Amino acid sequence: MRISVIGCGYLGAVHAACMAKLGHDVVGIDVDEQKISELSRGRAPFFEPGLENLLQEVQSTGRLRFATEFAAAEGSSVHFICVGTPQKKGENGADLTFVDAATSALLQHLSPGDIVVGKSTVPVGTAGRLVAVVKQAQPEADLLWNPEFLREGHAVSDTLLPDRLVYGVDGGSEDHRSVEVLDQVYASALEAGIPRLITDLPTAELVKTAANSFLATKISFINAMAELCDAAGADVSLLADAIGLDDRIGRKFLNAGIGFGGGCLPKDIRAFMARAGELGADQALTFLREVDAINMRRRTRVVELTRELCGGSLLGQRITVLGAAFKPESDDVRDSPALSIAAQLQLQGADVTVTDPEALANAARRFPELHYEKSTGTALKDADAILLLTEWQEYRDLDPYETAYSVAYKRVLDGRNVLDARKWRAAGWTYRGLGRP
Ligand code: UGA
Repeated sequence: MRISVIGCGYLGAVHAACMAKLGHDVVGIDVDEQKISELSRGRAPFFEPGLENLLQEVQSTGRLRFATEFAAAEGSSVHFICVGTPQKKGENGADLTFVDAATSALLQHLSPGDIVVGKSTVPVGTAGRLVAVVKQAQPEADLLWNPEFLREGHAVSDTLLPDRLVYGVDGGSEDHRSVEVLDQVYASALEAGIPRLITDLPTAELVKTAANSFLATKISFINAMAELCDAAGADVSLLADAIGLDDRIGRKFLNAGIGFGGGCLPKDIRAFMARAGELGADQALTFLREVDAINMRRRTRVVELTRELCGGSLLGQRITVLGAAFKPESDDVRDSPALSIAAQLQLQGADVTVTDPEALANAARRFPELHYEKSTGTALKDADAILLLTEWQEYRDLDPYETAYSVAYKRVLDGRNVLDARKWRAAGWTYRGLGRP
């Protein structure tokens, strides 16, 4: 099939490459010339495992190209909208500028029979509004919503073989013309037995925000338990293992630590609350305010624990922060709890050095006042305390005996509860976890 993908960020670039991998003829479109120039050369403009190899593989087949002009969408019969929906400045709601702009720019290039497929995360009601916009410009085109559930760091495999496919169509009927078209797009996933659900438009939009809200709630739940474990002298990791064995609960997303960040969960729960308010259903989501508050409290807690670890004052303390990305296997620092903690410590008088295998360039753009160091060994040198804040494998694998040779004081704060506390203590370290005795 001939496919256009509008927006070549974390979602769109991966989606375009994966659609070409599935055998489709794809054009990726983005207004950012730099991004398009890199993608056209087979280079990923951000770190995502497997993406660069995939780009090179599919570009050599001639099935994937990139452009900055919307006219390049002409001739495609399926158009995916993959642009960002960031949080509005100073407000909780989602900023739909890019979704609206992408849809309008596409209108003049639509032909009868085309389908526009929204993948961006949008407030419920957006798709219904856009159906009318599309129909007015091209009555024989359709718009449906097909939310994306990929995780950064696993984006390629999540796109090729997702847990489920959700098609939100106007009216919610299985017989909708565009269902058959989307089935052809996703033929290989469907053949592999991936479940496919047909819903109406608002349900499809809500599936995405509900899923992210549930994940955020699960993380804040275990972080609330970590607060209790701290107060009671219990161990939240063991608690999570034990409750996670109940398969109604499940162990995934029950890792207590410095909380969630990134370009999705934080802004999605806020946009969801804002939208619920507009719909007169704000009471239904007041718990998400608490989810957000528990999450933000983690960052303050780590700053306080670091102060304790350093003997009561942060002034002049040399702190090494391991990890800047919001999670491992990503160079994304949007709302990264690790970076926000590093910046707070610096503001409170500590001398902070941040290291990360992939995210330093993005981090330096966001917080130029921090000191960055590429080599872990150099970053650790003469540290008064080290903080593991993003659980990259190389930090999990640090040897407490070897690390001890580099630092000035053997003090470690494990912000992700991934180190073996007994081993670090045996090597003479003062070890602090979160919600661990
Ligand atoms: C999230 C969802 O997991 C995806 O399903 C969704 O498609 C995506 O948002 C999106 O809306 O586009 P992502 O932002 O890539 O994906 O990251 P997650 O893997 O969900 O992690 C989010 C944050 O939670 C990270 O900061 C991570 O460190 C933290 N986390 C995760 C915990 O603190 N504890 C856990 O147990 C799990």
